[in-house]
Order: sequence, then C-alpha cells, then structure tokens
Amino acid sequence: MTDAEFTLDPSLIYLNHAAVAPWPLRTARAVAEFAQENARYGSRDYPRWVHTESTLREQFRTLLNARHSDEIALLKNTSEALSVVAWGLDWQAGDNVVIGDQEFPSNRVVWESLDALGVETRIASLAEHATPEAALLACVDARTRVLSVSSVQYGTGLRMDLATLGNACRERNILFCVDAIQSLGAHRLDVQDCHADFVMADGHKWLLGPEGLAGFYCRREVMPQLALRQYGWHMLAEPGRFDTHARTIAPTARRFECGSPNMLGIHALHASLGLILETGMAEIEQRVLANARLLLAGLAARADRYTLITPVEPGRHAGIVTFRPRTESPEALFERLQQQRVACALRGGGVRFSAHFYTPCEQLHTVLEMLDRR
Ligand SMILES: Cc1ncc(COP(=O)(O)O)c(C=O)c1O
Repeated sequence: MTDAEFTLDPSLIYLNHAAVAPWPLRTARAVAEFAQENARYGSRDYPRWVHTESTLREQFRTLLNARHSDEIALLKNTSEALSVVAWGLDWQAGDNVVIGDQEFPSNRVVWESLDALGVETRIASLAEHATPEAALLACVDARTRVLSVSSVQYGTGLRMDLATLGNACRERNILFCVDAIQSLGAHRLDVQDCHADFVMADGHKWLLGPEGLAGFYCRREVMPQLALRQYGWHMLAEPGRFDTHARTIAPTARRFECGSPNMLGIHALHASLGLILETGMAEIEQRVLANARLLLAGLAARADRYTLITPVEPGRHAGIVTFRPRTESPEALFERLQQQRVACALRGGGVRFSAHFYTPCEQLHTVLEMLDRR
C-alpha cells in the first residue's frame, strides 16, 4: 500500500536516501495543493496552516518519543540546530566537547568554531578502541561539557550505541547531543531511552521530506541552559500580539524559532512524516535493515572484488552500506553506476548505497549483478 506512494522513474535505482531522498506522492501533492491554495486564496486560512505546524511538532514528538511537543522546535536544518546548542551554552575557557573522527563537517565545524572562546574540540579515533563508544568516552574528562555524535556515521554507516553513550553522559553530567539525520525515519530513536539532551535532523534524507526544515528536540530541563542568539516575533510567549511591547520569551522550544515559519516546508514534511508514522517505525526499521543486510551479504560474497567499509555486525549498521572496489577506483565505479542509472554517492572512501524501506529487493539484486560486470 505505502509502496504505491513512490513513483520514481522505473529506469532509476535510487540508493541515495542518505543524501537527498525522493518525495512520496502525498508530499508532492501537499506541495502542489499548498501552491494552488496560495495562488487562489493567499493566506486566508492561516490558522489551518498553524494547525499543520503544531501537528508536525507532534509528529516529531511521536517519532522521538519525547515527553511533550513543547520540546520540539522547527529549524532550518541540522547545522542550525547544532549551532543553537553550541553557541547557546555558557562556556568557560578550558571546557571541551568530544566528537568522533567520522563526523560529517556540520558536527565538527560548529564545535571547532568555539575555539574562539577557548573551548577545545576533542576528536576521538573511533576505530582505535574496542568499541566506538569506548573511544569517545576515553576522551572525556572533568572539563567535558558536551558529547556530540551522529547516530549513524554518514560515510562508513557505523551505527552508534546511543544508550551506552547517553547513560555514560548522564552519569558524568555531560550534555548528550545526537545528530540523527542519518537514522531518523530509518531507525527507531527514543530520546528518553538514550538520555539525549538534544537531537536534530533535517527532513530531506530518511524522513523523505524537502531540504530546509529540521526537527530539533531540546530536553525541557536543559532548555534554560541555552542562551538565545536570534530574536524575532515568533519566539515570544504570545507571538500574535504584535501591538504590545511584551518581550516574554516562549517557555517552549519555539523560543529557538525567531521569525515566520517555513510553511511550504511544513506542509511537505507533515505529509512525509504522516507516511512514516502510518507505516510505523518498527516495520520501516525492519525493512531498512533487511535491505542493508541484503547488500552487505551480496558484497561480502564478492569479497574478491569489493571490500566492505560498513561494519556487518548486528547493531552496527542501519541504512547505509559503503564499500570499496578492489579492481578499480571508487570514482570509476561510481561513474559506471551513474551511467547505469543507479543513484548513489561517493562517501567515506568508497561508494555509498542507501536503500530505504520501500526500495524493492529485486533492484538490489540488479545492482549486485551490475557489480559482477565490468
Ligand atoms: C550526519 C550529517 N549531519 C548533518 C548533515 C547536514 O545537515 P543539514 O544540511 O541539515 O545541516 C548531513 C548531510 O549529509 C549529515 O550526513
């Protein structure tokens, strides 16, 4: 049923959800309808748009199992949310933040920008300890204020054990920040279970939405620790009262949203999350993992020609499968796949495949057969 929502050109094999995903039909329709409504009626029905906006917050709450949608802000992207955290905290010179060495630039440059304040960014070599979690925790000391990690590493596809990290952070009074863009919509994430203080994810990857709109979870108890760096009408406690001079800031995560919401993106992402929640994260996770394991097994069976970069151990991968060819360069293989209409990416020192739950397994077999030819 949900598979009828995907109307990709049949000549295309789309294994690039870890970059920018295609939209489901209902999302394309929501955007077209919103455009028509704007052209015909302008913003006459704005209160309904605001209702869609609150529903989207509630959808994020459900996805993350947050206690309340007041803990959800709708921001521009993952990088903006990371910046809200990094530049909101009250740092002292000599404090440090711990990240891993496989992070996407957003989860590194934001922290490194704090060196202007005397804050050190410690970069753990994830492969140099028995587990990546042990590598991160080995870098922690009494001056560590934040541990920030992607739930799944964008290049290698390594999945982190968030509960272990979250527990360790809670015990040490360290804030735990999770960039979930490479897992939210593919894999379950429970902010209460893993003791996350902050979680952020843009909508254009596994959430099957447009670029430019992200969910940001900020645990209620830590919200006051983030000083505000942007100001405007929308973050006020009573945003509709333009004629008063009140400056009371919203007690909710809306305080991080300074001005007019991205209503077009909200309508689109609301439709995409509707599909994800209707399908159910348990089913999606199981199908994403089945697809990833089909690819991992297929590549392992071709070990004479391909080396896996993504770990095969259960619990250590999600939707991303990255590998390196032995007999040609990753660039040459990537080119060949592009010509054969396989959408994939060059990442993490190899070719990255990222199939979603609806990707037909016959297409994965077709791609594996392509890898046999040269
Ligand atoms: C782990 C990770 N974080 C952040 C981003 C970028 O996010 P945004 O464009 O929403 O800031 C990406 C994009 O590939 C990513 O893989």
